[in-house]
Amino acid sequence: MKNIKAIIFDAYGTLFDVNSAAEKCKDKIGDKWEGFANFWRTIQLEYTWLRSLMKRHKDFWQITEDSLDKSMKTYKIDPTMKNELLNLYKTLSPYKEVHEVLIKLKEKNFKLAILSNGTPSLLDELVKSNNLENLFDDLFSVEQVGIYKPDSKVYDMPIKKYQIQKNEVCFLSANTWDVSGGGNYGYNSIWVNRNNNIFDKLDYSPRHQIKQLGELLDIL
Ligand code: LAC
Repeated sequence: MKNIKAIIFDAYGTLFDVNSAAEKCKDKIGDKWEGFANFWRTIQLEYTWLRSLMKRHKDFWQITEDSLDKSMKTYKIDPTMKNELLNLYKTLSPYKEVHEVLIKLKEKNFKLAILSNGTPSLLDELVKSNNLENLFDDLFSVEQVGIYKPDSKVYDMPIKKYQIQKNEVCFLSANTWDVSGGGNYGYNSIWVNRNNNIFDKLDYSPRHQIKQLGELLDIL
């Protein structure tokens, strides 16, 4: 990939494992922990899209709690676990290659940033709790524009800040719809397909498909 100036990462599911909060409670939740974690994530994302369409924005932390309430009821999880699950969501674990890959990309002098639905304080806590805070130039949050991905106002933020062209961005997401959102906007989008999933039919084919972020070093 040529002429890339900025490498922009989605946060949840791409750098940080969204299932790790429920997984850390799997002894208490039992075998259904993974189904519950996937359901929570699905409802959380649906709420972001629905609230954007209804023009009733609530920040990602409130949406995370609202979707957790529905998911706990659906999966009959002990209600006293709510605070534990929410607190674990604030310090989700990164995927194992993340730290090393970011260091190598930083050495190559790319702008490195997160572009996420998360609130500024959530993103701040996520990177600090995982000792990643010195590796990013910016943590772009949708709160700056008051609407969720895949609205183009979100993908506009790094372009405006860095004064670069859309095709000078390499955007990475594990979320297929976000790869398409960024790609249709004009980014070079790469799909981080960790679990052998099927891509969406949303008018975009990823520039590359990788299994983990380390493969990025061979593409750039
Ligand atoms: C984010 C969600 C989409 O970080 O994963 O924006």
